[in-house]
Amino acid sequence: MSTDPALLYGEHLAILNARTEKALARGGFDHLVVPSGTLHYQVFDDRDYPYAVNPHFKAWLPLTRNPGSWLVVTPGAKPKVIYYQPFDYWHVVPEAPNGWWVGHFDIVIIRKPEEALQHLPRDPARCAILGEPPSALGSFVPNNPQTVLDYLHYHRAFKTPYEVTMMLAATRKGVPAHRAAEAAFRSGASEFDIHLAYCAAARQDAGELPYNNIVALNEHGAVLHYTELGRSAPQPVRSFLIDAGASAAGYACDITRTYAADAGSEFQALIDAVDAAQLKMCDQVRAGFDYKQLHLDAHLALSGILRDFGIIKVSPEAALASGVSSAFFPHGIGHGIGLQVHDVSGFAESDHGGTIAKPEGHPYLRLTRVLEPGMAVTIEPGVYFIDMLLDEVKKNGQADSVDWARVDAFKPYGGIRIEDDVVCTEGAPQNLTREGFAEAA
Ligand code: GLY
Ligand code: MN
Repeated sequence: MSTDPALLYGEHLAILNARTEKALARGGFDHLVVPSGTLHYQVFDDRDYPYAVNPHFKAWLPLTRNPGSWLVVTPGAKPKVIYYQPFDYWHVVPEAPNGWWVGHFDIVIIRKPEEALQHLPRDPARCAILGEPPSALGSFVPNNPQTVLDYLHYHRAFKTPYEVTMMLAATRKGVPAHRAAEAAFRSGASEFDIHLAYCAAARQDAGELPYNNIVALNEHGAVLHYTELGRSAPQPVRSFLIDAGASAAGYACDITRTYAADAGSEFQALIDAVDAAQLKMCDQVRAGFDYKQLHLDAHLALSGILRDFGIIKVSPEAALASGVSSAFFPHGIGHGIGLQVHDVSGFAESDHGGTIAKPEGHPYLRLTRVLEPGMAVTIEPGVYFIDMLLDEVKKNGQADSVDWARVDAFKPYGGIRIEDDVVCTEGAPQNLTREGFAEAA
């Protein structure tokens, strides 16, 4: 199979066209209209926030830095891009449309935002307009019809070969950056300097990354979304958890690794055990497997490790039933990934809407669907030593389930998370992250 995005893009657009035709028919619309979005400004200030493109726009176009543009899709016609290229001597404006995508669209250039009105469909009432309220232009006000969104969001879970290629391209930026970050950690760098080493190796600035880097030394690994970036390294440095991604043409990778400073430490052994369990979980990303079950199985596997290490004193089944496992593994096993690092429609029952509930007692699971070929998900088991949650274990009368001296021994290391991006196929799963690390080795 080709992995040249230019060769896969036509098929990608054909799939999006077919989905759009169905979605519009369901909603009774003739056109899909998608503003790329606008710049937003800070209150009482002329400073703009980092621009974030409308995901429905970048689903069609490898354009992530073009505010003020529009996409119009009319079944049976060539899709149209209304491409905003302002006259502006303060900023670098988007360059003229170029690259392998342009031949697939009718393109009109506009110099002022309101010029888009001349090129949009005649009757806004016939349009499904997907976007945020500030993108409104004249009578083209985003209406975000639920039927249309339900259909498009549900099917966006199934990645086209083009999309998988782009996610692999993102991985190929993220993996060298992870390796550079590990090297920086081993040389004694601070969280801030590790972050800079990461960005330098990814060739991406913080604003281009799909989410804020989590770079956590020692106890900071116990804060799930720790983004403080300490300016000096603690002494001694014991452990390093890094959860950091990269972007390619609007697609994300999401990778987490955990390292011990001392390869002979018990913490390293705990990392190795979580890593081995994580690989088994990745192998469960198979068509027909219920992701909710994967999450619950992860609780059992991680509890087994906690018991093997003498951290808990009860069976995995008992730890899951009592909620003790959730004190150590308090987030979901993962989420869909693609155009957004936490992709849409994780709970979608069907393309008509509806919600698949989370298992009771597991409020942070972000995906409850049954896996099917084309779905891309993360698998990110973790084990943490979080005071707030461990206090709850004591308050809930479960203190006897835990060996607190063992907890105290591991607390200075914070926690462990190992995260890969995995694509469900007709056969064996494709682990984009492990592929990326193997290539880079
Ligand atoms: N990478 C951060 C998260 O998945 O929440
Ligand atoms: Mn993740």
